[in-house]
Amino acid sequence: MTLCKQLSLAAALAVMACMGAAPLAATAQDMPAATAPAAPGDPGATPMTDQAVFEAFHGKEGIQRIADATIDRSVADPRIAEVFKGIDIAKLKTHLAQQLCYVLGGGCAYTGRDMATSHKDLGVNMAEMNALVENLQWAMDKEGVPFRAQNKLLAKLAPMKKDVVTR
Ligand code: HEM
Repeated sequence: MTLCKQLSLAAALAVMACMGAAPLAATAQDMPAATAPAAPGDPGATPMTDQAVFEAFHGKEGIQRIADATIDRSVADPRIAEVFKGIDIAKLKTHLAQQLCYVLGGGCAYTGRDMATSHKDLGVNMAEMNALVENLQWAMDKEGVPFRAQNKLLAKLAPMKKDVVTR
């Protein structure tokens, strides 16, 4: 079990390391934050078509639990807590759950901003990215999502690194 877990993390980080997928649509990237529209942005990946993966996440309710647990753990994580200071956590949880549901093929609408716009002022580095991914993996484990399904989601999220990591 432990080995499986380590392999899963290693696989996720390997995927994270080899970025370079198609660029996201830049919507409000060049606008000052104060005037950026609240209009929905690109969720950053195309939806999966395999409903079995969505079901492995226990549908919308399971995904919301995973989003909540990932953010709660990250806010309390000394490695990255600082990044979440002053952030509307309830809104972040809602947007993260919408995004994960969309990417997992659950048919949810994403009403947050695109990944480049929403992360450009946060100054996130690679170690902080890895910390958040670990917290997401912890939340998926807690929900009982099998490693194969976990890795399918991580592979979809990995290319977003280029828009999230800015230093
Ligand atoms: C692939 C990895 C990531 C994904 C899929 C992701 C997803 C999201 C989503 C969907 C939002 C909501 C955007 C909005 O409300 O308009 C968001 C915002 C945010 N993310 Fe991430 N994120 C990732 C990595 C990270 C990392 C590594 C950190 C920090 C260590 C982080 C910290 C934040 C914070 C603080 C916000 C709120 C920004 C604001 O409201 O101004 N994210 N992220």
